[in-house]
Amino acid sequence: MSIGIDDISFYTSNFYLDLKSLADVQNIEADKYYQGIGQERMGIVGADEDVVTMAAAAALPLFERSNKASIDTLLFATETGIDQSKAAGVFVHGLLGLPSRCRVVELKQACYSATAALQMACAIVAREPGRKVLVLASDIARYDLASSGEATQGCGAVAILVGANPKLVEIHPQSGRYTEDVMDFWRPNYRATALVDGKYSTKIYLKALKQAYLDYLEQGGTGFDQLDHLCYHLPFSRMAEKAQTQLARCSGSTRDPVARAAMIAPSLHYNRTIGNSYTASIYIGLTSLLDHAAEDLSGKKIGFFSYGSGCVAEFFSGSVVAGYREYLHTQRHQAMLKARTELSYTQYLKFYNFECPADGGDHRMPEQTTGPYRLASIDQHKRIYCAR
Ligand code: HMG
Repeated sequence: MSIGIDDISFYTSNFYLDLKSLADVQNIEADKYYQGIGQERMGIVGADEDVVTMAAAAALPLFERSNKASIDTLLFATETGIDQSKAAGVFVHGLLGLPSRCRVVELKQACYSATAALQMACAIVAREPGRKVLVLASDIARYDLASSGEATQGCGAVAILVGANPKLVEIHPQSGRYTEDVMDFWRPNYRATALVDGKYSTKIYLKALKQAYLDYLEQGGTGFDQLDHLCYHLPFSRMAEKAQTQLARCSGSTRDPVARAAMIAPSLHYNRTIGNSYTASIYIGLTSLLDHAAEDLSGKKIGFFSYGSGCVAEFFSGSVVAGYREYLHTQRHQAMLKARTELSYTQYLKFYNFECPADGGDHRMPEQTTGPYRLASIDQHKRIYCAR
């Protein structure tokens, strides 16, 4: 019996800022962003969108071919929590009408926790192969205005259905891990925006990649030159290029730079126009690979590198299942991105500066999202969601 990804779908908000608008205001060349960090646009959420509405929207298409009654567990990965106590996934459970016997829990470790959720989901399915686990990863990346991280903001959610004999990607049992207590990126409870030591964070990312990959090899994993494609955590898409160079170096690869670039190119399209979606980004990268690869990926081996600042990292792999193309949501993903509205820099500032009311009154949220769910109001500190 194999275990892995039976279905996958992502969602992002309907607004974006082109990084040229940011570069113009900063009086720098847009190519610093387009080429230097490999990003074109960043997704911006409206006032009535959050990690709950995005995750529910990502999950909705999965039920076109899967029965809600088979969902045993919902694991919600995020670092943009909306409550210190109640798991965001419980709101999603309600919006989607999942069975009452489906357990729900929220997981946090910066951008890494979706991978912990995926591995836990595989373990649950191994124990009860008839069950399915819904993994949701949803985040809004926000840094201070005029900080080095500002151009790497973004938002998105991914929904992954994990089951036995999956239709898309079998997850291999080998996994390499690396944990180290560092302060490269963090967000104290009293802050809405993350703090980051940008250059240091990229160094730690590359160190963790090397260590997790070496551990993966020690656990019997597949060497870099035997992998067909790589999906990396994507804080910005040029990070994947740096990661490829690092892996080639530490594996003694014989692949030339053009072949190495081809291994990652199809996985970068969506993130380039969405921005960093923290926990979701590596798996939005996977949907990008599956949706964009010109060749049939059936039987191809994919390496995954998941990184969460602080830091915890994991390197693992999977094989694409024959016939996977029949089950993709490519058209819906591409139509969603095409239908987004571009914001001017002034509009972006207005969205950025919007603050959720915190006074305990009854507040209706402005109607801005075009997604299937919205945060309708915050009444007496309670978040009220509805279908749109
Ligand atoms: P910066 O200071 O804005 O940029 O910081 P820079 O001056 O280093 O320039 C970036 C690149 O653009 C350089 O290329 C320049 O040469 C090039 P590189 O040296 O990297 O090859 N450049 C140009 N290229 C073409 N035309 C031009 C031009 N000008 C310059 N005109 C930094 C960049 C990534 C530090 C910043 O964006 C940042 O702080 N980002 C946030 C932190 C981050 O994303 N870290 C990534 C690793 S940590 C991680 O992934 C975890 C995270 O997702 C959080 C979590 O786990 O929860 C962040």
